[in-house]
Parts: sequence; structure tokens; C-alpha cells
Amino acid sequence: MTVRLVTDPAEWRQVLDAEREGGRTVGLVPTMGALHGGHLSLLRAAAAQRDVVAMTDYVNPLQFGPGEDLAAYPRDLERDCQVAAGVGADLVFAPDPQDMFPVPPATTVHPEGPALPLEGTWRPGHFDGVATIVTKLLALSGPCWAYFGEKDWQQLVVVRRLVEDLSLPAGVVACPVVRESDGLALSSRNAYLTAPQREAAPTLYYALLAGRRAVEEGEEDPAAVRRAMADTLGRQPLFRPDYLEVADPETLLVPSRLAGDLRLLGAARIGTTRLIDNIPAASPHDRGQP
Ligand code: PAJ
Repeated sequence: MTVRLVTDPAEWRQVLDAEREGGRTVGLVPTMGALHGGHLSLLRAAAAQRDVVAMTDYVNPLQFGPGEDLAAYPRDLERDCQVAAGVGADLVFAPDPQDMFPVPPATTVHPEGPALPLEGTWRPGHFDGVATIVTKLLALSGPCWAYFGEKDWQQLVVVRRLVEDLSLPAGVVACPVVRESDGLALSSRNAYLTAPQREAAPTLYYALLAGRRAVEEGEEDPAAVRRAMADTLGRQPLFRPDYLEVADPETLLVPSRLAGDLRLLGAARIGTTRLIDNIPAASPHDRGQP
């Protein structure tokens, strides 16, 4: 199996228009390449559910802050195409940066609401970059089903709101987090970890599990859940947390009293590598009257 590789934005639009004119549904899987099992789960889901699987492979400069890993970000388009073909991808879009945006771009998309807390605070401008590229990729790709991973929960929520608020012609499909056998969420950035760092890395997931246990045992105070997570992460001295939080899954705000469905989200640095993860948690308490 091979994929058709497209680099020209106008050609990408024509190719997908032709697929739809032929009556075929399009599953779009936006990625920054360096494919791992998390990306493959999205491609497999798209292949199972849609006629044509179209992956984008583009390291988007707009979503990297100054001092972040844009230059170091792993890139291997040839391998990505082979791996993607192996799980049913038909088309890969890998544009040159100069064909996407002038630097700086004159027009950007600025999400607020769920984009403001957590990653929004720690990576200012990040979600502007994500929302701008996702809007452009959806505009170039036309009507489709777009697949996103729950690994980046806040990104998923921001994209859902973006699609809804701007009436973009896409259906957003969420796919569960894929983990290593020790619990570490798969990420392209795991490749940066040294052996001792890799061994320590699942502690971020264990911290979230400790928070879930507190929520499920009926803890109503977010500060106590934060403490449970910080205690677990604190046992691993290689980690320095940015945040460990319990939030409403859709607004990403911290409720004053924990009840109903919640999301536990964490970001922490290990050496120079920043890892993020999240899991759901269901409180035994009702939300009561809205
Ligand atoms: P990237 O980090 O390459 O991730 C591409 C997609 O794969 C995202 O939807 C992400 O949530 C999903 N993903 C990554 N790791 C996963 C895992 N362990 N389990 C399940 N899904 C996983 O996210 C981006 O790229 C960019 O921000 C992008 C949306 C492409 C815009 O540039």
C-alpha cells in the first residue's frame, strides 16, 4: 500500500473535492508527523469509518512559543508516509511552510473560553496557533470528518468549539488516549527522554490516577484533589509540575465544589521535555440544579 503525497495546497483541495464528487466520505487526520501509535489509532478509526483517509503532516510554526522545540521537533516524512499507508491512509498533505502562512500572518484565529486556562496560561498563543492552522486545514480540505485524540483534551475541546462557533463543515471525532504498557501516554516528545527520565515519566499518569481516586471517593474540594496529585508527582524528583488540575470537561474551569463528570489534567517538565496527560473522573455527587 502506498499513499499519494500532496504538497501543493490548491492540489489538496482539488483531490479531496474529486473524492467527494465521487460520493466518497473523507476522514481527515491532522498531525505534525513523527507518527506513533496514538496517531495510528486515529488513522485506523478514520479508515474503519470513512471511505478516504486523508492525513495532514505539518509541523505548524504558529503553535510553538519562543524557546519551544520547533527546530528540534522530530521530522521524517518518508517514514510517516509508509507507516500511514500501512494502517489505511490514502492521502498525505505535507505543505512547505512558505505555502501556508507568511511570517507573521496577517490573519489568525483567537479562541477564548476553554482555550484560556491551563495550557492557555502556560503556553500563551499556543491555541491561537492551533485554531489558525486547524481552520486553514479544514478550509483547504472541505467537508469531512476530522479525527482528534483525547490525549490533547483541551485542544479537542477548543477545536469542537471552533468548528461550532465558525460553522466549519466538519464533524469532530474524538479518539481515546493510547498508552504504553506502564501507562505513559504516547507522544512524539517521549523520544526526547533519557532512559532514567523515561522510567520516571509514567508518574504523571499515576498522579492523575491518585486525583481520580480522591474524586471517586467523594472528595468535593478541588484543592484536596490537587494535593493528592501533587503528592504523587512529588515522589518523583525528576518532575517539575506546571499544573495538576481538576476541571469541568467542557469549560476547563475548576468548579468550586466537585460533582458530576470531571477531567483531571496535568502538565509537567522532566528535564527539558514537557509532558501533558489527562483522564476522566466521575464524582459520586450530583451537580444539582444548574
Ligand atoms: P500531534 O501532536 O501530531 O497530534 C496529532 C493528533 O494525534 C492529535 O489529535 C493528538 O491528540 C493525537 N494524539 C497524539 N498522541 C496521542 C495518543 N497517545 N493517543 C491518542 N491520540 C493521540 O495535535 C497536534 O499534532 C497539532 O496540534 C495539530 C492538531 C495537528 C495542529 O497542528
